[in-house]
Amino acid sequence: MTQTTARDEHVEHELEAGFDAVLARHDRIEPRDWMPEGYRKTLVRQVAQHAHSEIIGMQPEGNWLTRAPSLRRKAILLAKVQDEAGHGLYLYSAAETLGASRADLTEKLISGAQKYSSIFNYPTLSYADVGTIGWLVDGAAICNQVPLCRTSYGPYGRAMIRICKEESFHQRQGYELLMTMMRGTPEQREMVQESVNRFWWPALMMFGPPDDESPNTAQSMAWGIKRDTNDELRQKFVDMSVPQAQRLGVTFPDPELRWNAERGHHDFGQPDWEEFAAVVRGEGPCNAQRLAHRRRAHEEGAWVREAASAFARRQASEVRA
Ligand SMILES: [Fe+2]
Ligand SMILES: [Fe+2]
Repeated sequence: MTQTTARDEHVEHELEAGFDAVLARHDRIEPRDWMPEGYRKTLVRQVAQHAHSEIIGMQPEGNWLTRAPSLRRKAILLAKVQDEAGHGLYLYSAAETLGASRADLTEKLISGAQKYSSIFNYPTLSYADVGTIGWLVDGAAICNQVPLCRTSYGPYGRAMIRICKEESFHQRQGYELLMTMMRGTPEQREMVQESVNRFWWPALMMFGPPDDESPNTAQSMAWGIKRDTNDELRQKFVDMSVPQAQRLGVTFPDPELRWNAERGHHDFGQPDWEEFAAVVRGEGPCNAQRLAHRRRAHEEGAWVREAASAFARRQASEVRA
């Protein structure tokens, strides 16, 4: 008995050393490789939360599909919203390679047991919001996700490479939409500024709480799941967005925002972290609406899942025959 335990411990040590060596040379961990249980669990949680965000994120913009101001804008928006569905699918598939079940993850989303990005709990009140979401929300997503292309888990990293290419298109379409509105009437310019005012702070919250209040960051960085801290990414996003805002002709609603030549970065104010905590707790302006919509869509799609399973069963039995 003691002998077996000693041997098991030895094997466990060897496996762990192998895992650490892969991380040390910045190589990928693949689905069949041994991994510590904590690594697997952290990844499932992060990838699932990311997948849920893509799917719930279709709603705020989907809200404007039937009211797009032209056929061209409608086609662009439709393509963008469909891309987000695709992102959700790649990510649920990546989570499945870790042993998670799609049905279980969906259940956890619609029961509120797993979270999605807080940003999608804010309403879209004008067509300018479609542009602002593309520019700032997809822009913040790119800052978060480009480093994830180098994340240590293979299927997640590869999904991120494709997703980031599409997110770049999303950001450009948003910026182009806003630029078009800024060349329009004073009312259109006013709509853009009002939209930017509403989305700036929630966009900064997308990077998560400040580093000293983010207890999981150190472990996630040690495992190569995360490559930069929340505050580093937030800074990068602010530095990237300021010149874009200047070119667009809008301002950000932050009196503390200014260039700091000594640091070589912009100084900026802190978002309202109490508001962030409330939205994460489910008390944001649209939390209940987003989940209710997702739940209804899931229930209404039950017949599609049943038909697809029945078809798959029949095909498998035909192959056997
Ligand atoms: Fe996306
Ligand atoms: Fe996107």
